[in-house]
Amino acid sequence: MSRTALLIAGLLAAPFLLAGCGDDEPTLVIYNGQHEQLLDELAPTFTDETGIKVEIRSGDDLGLSNQLVQEGSKSPADVFLTENSPAMSAVERAGLFAPLDDATVEPIPAQYRPESGDWTGFVARSTVLVYNPSMVDEADLPDSIMDLADPQYAGMVSFSPTGADFQAIVAAVLDLEGEEATQEWLDGLKANGTTYDGNNVVLESVNAGESAIGIIYHYYWYRDQAEAGDNSDNTELSFFGNQDPGAFLSISGAGVLAASDHPDEAQQFVAYLTSEEGQQALADSYALEYPLNPAVTLGPPVKPLAELDPPTVAISDLDGDKVVEMMTQAGFL
Ligand SMILES: [Fe+2]
Repeated sequence: MSRTALLIAGLLAAPFLLAGCGDDEPTLVIYNGQHEQLLDELAPTFTDETGIKVEIRSGDDLGLSNQLVQEGSKSPADVFLTENSPAMSAVERAGLFAPLDDATVEPIPAQYRPESGDWTGFVARSTVLVYNPSMVDEADLPDSIMDLADPQYAGMVSFSPTGADFQAIVAAVLDLEGEEATQEWLDGLKANGTTYDGNNVVLESVNAGESAIGIIYHYYWYRDQAEAGDNSDNTELSFFGNQDPGAFLSISGAGVLAASDHPDEAQQFVAYLTSEEGQQALADSYALEYPLNPAVTLGPPVKPLAELDPPTVAISDLDGDKVVEMMTQAGFL
């Protein structure tokens, strides 16, 4: 390069260097398995208040947890967020999390976070049935999600087996009912079911009368109702309750990577998520998922968290790898 070219290159680079110097807050890299829109609504408030910028790299739970395990200490990620807890447990088992500050986990009730303090739940979603009343009477719905494997429901049920949401439900069934019963249940669902790629498509299929019953999480239905109801107006929701495996409450997790170059700022981000302020922002967002800090409640029309009567599942016991193995065995993956 000639002297002139070097000079020009230097001048061109200068404004960017100056801009870089004026910034004393780092940019956090967040590996995000949660719905991207949720982060798009929450992250700007955090940045406004702290000056800490956030770069969101979205993917699915399992893809991101595998990536983190592969990248290990070289990962650029500062924070990991998931839709469901099995992917958090996988990263915890690989020893990649830094413990969260006590003040960050304390607002979240103990059943929604692991004892280790390595990560915490920050929002929850309830398993539900969506059904089309023109195809099935409410009285003929099963009392338990386990019954959907019975021949009586052949050709009636749809779900999205490739998604982390459905796989978390299977992990809960495995924890509650054991391996043999779960494999039988999966085989029955395989015989009875129609599969789609994505919970929104399951909802659409029930609304369109292609399928009588769908297994989804509550917010897919409530979000569609909060919009125009185009994909849900022909359907109703049914909650299992009674601590049935089908009343499983799945927990979205948040954690700070031990390899983070900005551990203080990463801790601040997760602290914001569990704080009353962050939880209120979640409750007020489009998401309609359940805040877990008891200081905040999700308003109507969503069925209150206190009325769900979910089964007791130790979230650290949910085994995503075993679920993938069993679902492969059943022919879903
Ligand atoms: Fe989801």
